[in-house]
Parts: sequence; structure tokens; C-alpha cells
Amino acid sequence: MPSNHPVSPELPPAVCPFSAQAADGELGEILKIHGPEFTADPGATYAKLRARGPIVPVEFDNGAYAYLTTTYRAALHLLRHTPDLFAKDPNHWVALSSGQIPEGTPAVSMMQPRDNALWLDGAPHTRLRKTITDTVELVDSHALEGAVVRIADTLIDAVAEREEFDLVTAFADPLPIQVIIEMFGCPPDLGLRLITAIGKLFDAGADAAAANREIVSCCLELITLRRAEPSGDATSWLLAHPARLTDTEMIQQIMLVAGAGSTPSSNLIANALLLMIDDPAFSGSVYEGVHSVAEAMDQVLWEDPPIANYSPVYARVPETYEGVRLEPGVPVLVSFAAANSDPALARFRRAGNRAHLAFSAGAHACPAVDLARVITETAVERILDRLPDLSLAVDRADLVRRPGTFHSGWTALPVVNPHADPSAPPHQGATSWTPSRPPSQAARSASIPQRTTFMPKAPGSEPAARPSR
Ligand code: HEM
Repeated sequence: MPSNHPVSPELPPAVCPFSAQAADGELGEILKIHGPEFTADPGATYAKLRARGPIVPVEFDNGAYAYLTTTYRAALHLLRHTPDLFAKDPNHWVALSSGQIPEGTPAVSMMQPRDNALWLDGAPHTRLRKTITDTVELVDSHALEGAVVRIADTLIDAVAEREEFDLVTAFADPLPIQVIIEMFGCPPDLGLRLITAIGKLFDAGADAAAANREIVSCCLELITLRRAEPSGDATSWLLAHPARLTDTEMIQQIMLVAGAGSTPSSNLIANALLLMIDDPAFSGSVYEGVHSVAEAMDQVLWEDPPIANYSPVYARVPETYEGVRLEPGVPVLVSFAAANSDPALARFRRAGNRAHLAFSAGAHACPAVDLARVITETAVERILDRLPDLSLAVDRADLVRRPGTFHSGWTALPVVNPHADPSAPPHQGATSWTPSRPPSQAARSASIPQRTTFMPKAPGSEPAARPSR
């Protein structure tokens, strides 16, 4: 997803909702949570912002403004008071409805109104969210783990004999979307089309609109197929749900889960692998069993949450929080990264304590935390088992973070594989497609080997216990 688009000249000029306060000298310069300075060291910007107050004005894309929470307490206040004091519905965003935000910016694609659970409030939200929570409940963790291992193995086989490769494009990016598409019961050819189209949509290039149409048409084909032949998969369960979703609602829920589930999981896998490969406190100790992979994941969820800033909400009426006045019509973004790094929490922030906000909280909290943990931990365990002793191929200081406000991850993690046998014949099993955007954001190498049936859990059965390294 691109981060910095020039503002189109045809649009009404962007109006900063904080310009009056800025002119009065009440605010200093409005800080940016996008662009090279922020991307190079987000923590430094969060510290500067926190020094200004618990909720402060920011520019989060060119010409796009919001309030941002900087403390844990402020983040929880917002999340716990949605939807009573704050609305999730982006129709409240004045700059968007008055056409000041250029189409194609991440701000629009990540924050525009859509008929899915993420952007609705009250009873319509509860109805759609329940279709997702009920579906997620039915996923058998053992079957899911088996699918992750199989997909991981196919991806690992493709690079196992290479002396150097990029963990992001070869593994962290493609794995979660392949798992989720399989969970929806997509046959391989349809899955390949869907993954290719989702990659193009995230490119936000000239063919993004065509990609969106292709995604809708793939989802419709999938729905038609599963309606004719119900099976043990998420599409069939959503279709059978008593909420009786329309085809349009079905498409929106599938797109929501595919989007919400894939990029954050990819970033968590990459951020955790970096910790385990390069951080002296974790690298050796995971192999020696001193630290489990689960502990390393917790550490990453505290220190580098995959969704750094998101959950935009809108004050229903003028609100005051700890002396800060919040005007309706302006998005208030929750900074999960700033909340987790709030110095007020210093003594709680450690592995084993899951009070971090990486999965959000309140009415819109992630409904798939257990599923996300199975996907990411299994993937990380598998690659560390199959390819031990990986090390960074570049200096840590030369790694480049993904640009943008919302997601936190790395554009590439080049690694050296000391056990590679470059004389081995090239691996033929996995096909891949070449992305048109920077590889870290796409590169969903599209090989969907075989389908697993994600059979419903037997009544009363417990989720699979996670093996600990
Ligand atoms: C490491 C992986 C993940 C992280 C860090 C994560 C984090 C989050 C966060 C912060 C939100 C709140 C967004 C907001 O309020 O604007 C959210 C919502 C959501 N997530 Fe996750 N997520 C992850 C994986 C998944 C997976 C694997 C799925 C599904 C298979 C999923 C499905 C959803 C859905 C459907 C919502 C919207 C819920 C609602 O609005 O009621 N997530 N997630």
C-alpha cells in the first residue's frame, strides 16, 4: 500500500481542522506520522507527541489530519467508549465526505465506509461481527495448524537451498493470505486469482479498480460454489449462519477477514523472526528452550505491534478528555504502538503479560486472536525448525521499515542460510508471480497445494494446546 500521494489538484484544498489553534500558537508545528522521518524512528515521534498531551493533532497522510492517542489510558478510553461516545462509522469524517482526501491514498482505502463489521456501529455491527466470531469459533486449531505447516513447507522448500533470501517476500508475506484463502474453502485456481487480485489492490496502481472487480467476481464464484457444495470451511459456515447474509454482505465479510487477517499476521511473523534471529536476548535462547516462541511473540506484540495506529473513531458531540477538546468530524486514531510504549506501563511490559493493545480492545477488538496466534506461531516455529541458524545478511541499521502510518513491519529481511546447498537442483514445486510493487507489500507467491477441511470443532472441545519450543 503506498503511503505518500501528492494531493490531486482537482480536489478542494485540504483544510487543516487544527489551523485556528495552530495560528493562536496553542499548538506547535503539527507533527507527521507518515513520511521518511517518522518511518525511520516512529518511537521518537511518539515520545515527542506524548510530551504534548494524551491526545494530539497529527498529519497522518499528505493533507489528512486526525487526533492521535499517545497514552495507554487515552487509547482504552476511546476503545471502551465506542460506540456510546465515539462512532466507528467513517461517514462522520467531514474531510472525506467533502472530497478533500484524494482517492487512492491509504487514508481512503483504509478508512472509507464499507458495509462490513469494522465500519459499523450498534446493532448492525453486532449482527455482522457475530457471523465472524461464530465462524472463527468453528475453526479446528489442529486442522489450521496442519494447513499452516503444509503451506510453510511449500514456501520453505522454494528457498531452502538458497544461500541468501528475503524472509518477507519468500515467507512472511505469502503465508497468512494463503492460509486464510484456504480456510475459506477456495479451490486452488480460484485462490490463485484471488491472491493475485488482492496483491494488485494493495498496489493501489492503475489496475486497482479492475483488481477490485476481480476480487468481487472471485468471491461471488466462491459463494456460488460453496452454496452448491457446502464443505468444512469458513465460506460454507458464513452462508449457513442464521444472520442470513446477502451476497454483498458475504463478499464484504470475506474481504474484511482476508485484509484484516493477512497483513498484520505477515508483519507479526516478520517482526518476530527478526527478534529471534537478531536479538541476542532471544536468538540463542529460543533454540535452547529458555524462551518459547510464544514469549517472543508477546514481546513483539508489546514492542512493535503489527498495527501501529488505526481504529479511527469520531466524537459524536464535542468531547473533552483530560483537558483536550475533541471536535466531531475529525478522526481520532488509536496509537497501539504509543499505548504499548507508554512509560506509565514500564513495569508491566514484559513477555507473559498480554495486557498490550496489539489486538485492540472493546467492541471492535480483534475477534481472531487465537487464530492469529496459531497461524503466526506455527509459521515461525516451522521456519526456525527447518532452517536453523539463519542470520541477517545486512547490518540491522540498514533494514528499512514499511512506509505508512497504519502497519508496522519491514520492507525486506535479507538472511543468510548457512545450511544451503547451492548445487541442489532448483525447487520446482512452488509457482510464484512477480509483484509490481515493492516486494514486501505483495509477493504473495501463489502456490496453494491442497485443501484442508477446517472441520467444525467437536462440541466442548478445547483449542489445540500450542507446543512450546
Ligand atoms: C497478528 C495478527 C493480527 C493482529 C495484530 C490484529 C489486530 C487487530 C486490531 C488492532 C483490530 C481492531 C481494528 C479497528 O478497530 O479498527 C482488529 C480487528 C479485526 N481483526 Fe484482527 N488482527 C490480527 C489477525 C487477524 C486474523 C488472522 C483475522 C481473521 C482471520 C482477523 C480478523 C479481524 C476482524 C474481522 C476485525 C474487525 C472486528 C470488528 O470490527 O468488530 N484479525 N484486528
